[in-house]
Amino acid sequence: MYFTEITLKNFRNYKEQTVSFHPNVNIITGNNAQGKTNLLEGLYIMSLGKSFRTNKDVEMIGFEGDFSCVKSVYIKEGRERSIEIILSRQGKSIQIDGCKAKKSSDLLDNAYIVCFTPEDLKIVKEEPEKRRKFMDRELCQLKPVYYSTLARYKKVLMQRNSLLKSESLNNELMEIWENNLADYGSRIIIERMNFVEKLKIISKQLHSSITDGKEELDLFYESSVPVKGSREEIKEAFIKKLNKERKRDIFRGSTGSGPHRDDLRITIDGKDVRNYGSQGQQRTAALSLKLAEVRIIQEEKKENPALLLDDVLSELDKKRQKFLINSLSDVQLFITAAETKGELWNSLPERKVFVVENGRVTNDTQVAG
Ligand SMILES: Nc1ncnc2c1ncn2[C@@H]1O[C@H](COP(=O)(O)OP(=O)(O)O)[C@@H](O)[C@H]1O
Ligand SMILES: [Mg+2]
Repeated sequence: MYFTEITLKNFRNYKEQTVSFHPNVNIITGNNAQGKTNLLEGLYIMSLGKSFRTNKDVEMIGFEGDFSCVKSVYIKEGRERSIEIILSRQGKSIQIDGCKAKKSSDLLDNAYIVCFTPEDLKIVKEEPEKRRKFMDRELCQLKPVYYSTLARYKKVLMQRNSLLKSESLNNELMEIWENNLADYGSRIIIERMNFVEKLKIISKQLHSSITDGKEELDLFYESSVPVKGSREEIKEAFIKKLNKERKRDIFRGSTGSGPHRDDLRITIDGKDVRNYGSQGQQRTAALSLKLAEVRIIQEEKKENPALLLDDVLSELDKKRQKFLINSLSDVQLFITAAETKGELWNSLPERKVFVVENGRVTNDTQVAG
């Protein structure tokens, strides 16, 4: 799939702007704080209905109005399709191909987008939460039902946590919450483990190519719950663990085990990259993970996702830049960069260049190929 057009109304610093895109490469340049990332953000919300840089939808509404409207047109399976999202302080409303969606999750499985920012380069060395988010985002795109399971899990987790902190403990209610937590939790764990198995195979190959076979990348899903056996068995083991740890959890006022505490362990040549990897290795690992994300969508959905590269190329050395660009010739790219002169840019034959200035986008005809 690829985007042909986006219209932003009162979105971030855009008052009203329509941009027509190139099916292959779109380069977005301009000085700092002009609206380059905002443009990518407008595209990104088409995939999950959420931003990649804030959890608060209202932050995206332009300062001068009460709501924003973002409409995109894209081609999927040879057909023109559209998504329109209206953000207001009361919530959001979504239209898919002109029909109002009943719930936000109806948006999933329409437009596929992978986003790669300098934040993602740190995915390997930062806190486990970043890696859980990475898995969750991808799984939401791959399996819409995962999105609702995750939402239910989070809700029950909050319910159990508030019960842990209440003065009189209702054991009957606690058992219901723990059963539900284990039910949703075991589904999340199984999906993440399956995902990590696929991710492992693809990212291992990519990492080996980038390092000319010198390094071996490996991934492991590290769960706080015993994960042997079927989903039912994982669920039972999770219930037992919650039960056993209840006293400790009451003392801490929070739930110590479950997928909200799990991690994705990443090793190079058997050593944990988080603790022992050089910055270069960490970046190569992150690049391999991100490219693997693209490949998994291609394999599972038989569709090309659009890839957003926000200020990330300049963070990579020439060799990794080249690898990235060369391995993505089949994917629509949106690349923001302050500087667009030089060898790398000239190697992108078909492209459109946009200049962003104070929330306005113009085509740069002089540089366009
Ligand atoms: N909700 C909003 N309403 C209006 N302007 C906003 C809003 N959020 C951010 N901005 C403005 O957007 C600009 C930053 O845009 P951004 O796309 O992040 O810049 P860059 O071009 O460096 O990527 C800043 O000038 C900021 O004040
Ligand atoms: Mg930016």
